[in-house]
Amino acid sequence: MPNQSHERYEEIFAEVEAPFAFVDLDAMAANAAEMLGRAGGKPIRVASKSLRCRALLERVLRGDEGFAGVMTFTLPETLWLAEQGFEDLLLAYPTADTGALGELALRSVANPAGAPIVMVDCAEHLDAIESVLGAGAAPVRVCIDVDAGWWALGGRLKVGPKRSPIHTVEGAVALAGEIERRPQIELAALMAYEGQIAGVGDRPPGRRLRGAAIGWMQRRSAAELAERRGAIVAAVGEIAELKIVNGGGTGSLELTGAEDAVTELTAGSGFYAPALFDHYSRFSLTPAAGFALPIVRKPSAAVATALGGGYLASGAGDSARLPAPWLPGGLRLDPEEGAGEAQTPLLGAAAAELEIGDRVYLRHAKAGELCERFDVLHLVEGDEIVDVVPTYRGEGKTFL
Ligand SMILES: Cc1ncc(COP(=O)(O)O)c(C=O)c1O
Repeated sequence: MPNQSHERYEEIFAEVEAPFAFVDLDAMAANAAEMLGRAGGKPIRVASKSLRCRALLERVLRGDEGFAGVMTFTLPETLWLAEQGFEDLLLAYPTADTGALGELALRSVANPAGAPIVMVDCAEHLDAIESVLGAGAAPVRVCIDVDAGWWALGGRLKVGPKRSPIHTVEGAVALAGEIERRPQIELAALMAYEGQIAGVGDRPPGRRLRGAAIGWMQRRSAAELAERRGAIVAAVGEIAELKIVNGGGTGSLELTGAEDAVTELTAGSGFYAPALFDHYSRFSLTPAAGFALPIVRKPSAAVATALGGGYLASGAGDSARLPAPWLPGGLRLDPEEGAGEAQTPLLGAAAAELEIGDRVYLRHAKAGELCERFDVLHLVEGDEIVDVVPTYRGEGKTFL
């Protein structure tokens, strides 16, 4: 495990002008090994939205055969990755982009069994696909997205991301039947992503009661889902041969991996281990991605103000979405200002020691969104920068 001190990173990055972003490959390798360990032998599909860097996607997929295939986030991204030679692509979100669907149709003709699989959860998604298919086109392969949320109080309380309307065995069977009636669409896969377990830490800092409630909900949800997912896979499997049953995310690998009905898992955030992933009881990862900012002013002896830094994460607009001051230890954001567009004042004991020209290191709350702020990632291995690689943004690709 790398020694993650301010001094060490300052030596490594002595020649690099801040702001810059980096990935510590040793930490990322440790996280990859940790996640494979929790997957219990099930292959892990790599979530591209959480890496947003082609070189690192390639590196992860080359690194261990336990990582297989990519879970993508837009159809133009998926087609671009396919052009770049990536295989086994599963698009995790439905699309209404008929131009890109037209291109997918052409790819499906050229390579019926190897073209990307796209997500559907209703007849309108199927209509959009059919609208671009000429007569005699090869089938486009689709994946049914099943809602993995937890319903309590007879359905009055619904916990989990608002994704698919398909929640029950009957709903999944009805959509599978609808797909089977359309000869140019092939049902190849089923996915059920339990975001309320995988993406929610059960140890929120300073909120023990909330943590206990989250843990309680997650245990019940996992038990309910294991049963429902098994029943849905069995019933849909009577209608079509499901080549893929995908589930899970960084935060649920050991739980989802234990389900017989699931053929593969997904993980993305765990490679970079952003700040929101510090707060789980079931595992601990090593921070692997960060960004450095220069200190440019001292409004008072106790405060050090960095240039830029307002890289907020998406999601519920709470303070957990702010970047986390990391190195040197003992820094915190100013509750009045948070992380700003042009400047970020830093408080705490370490702030008094910082001078103009020093640099501080922060971590994004989420994973791939960091790459929307920087053109390149500096890759560190041992005590050296071993490569500088473009992010998606650096390749001129801002998909979302
Ligand atoms: C469908 C799906 N599967 C898995 C994941 C898990 O990704 P991560 O490991 O980055 O949390 C996500 C993330 O949002 C997702 O949308």
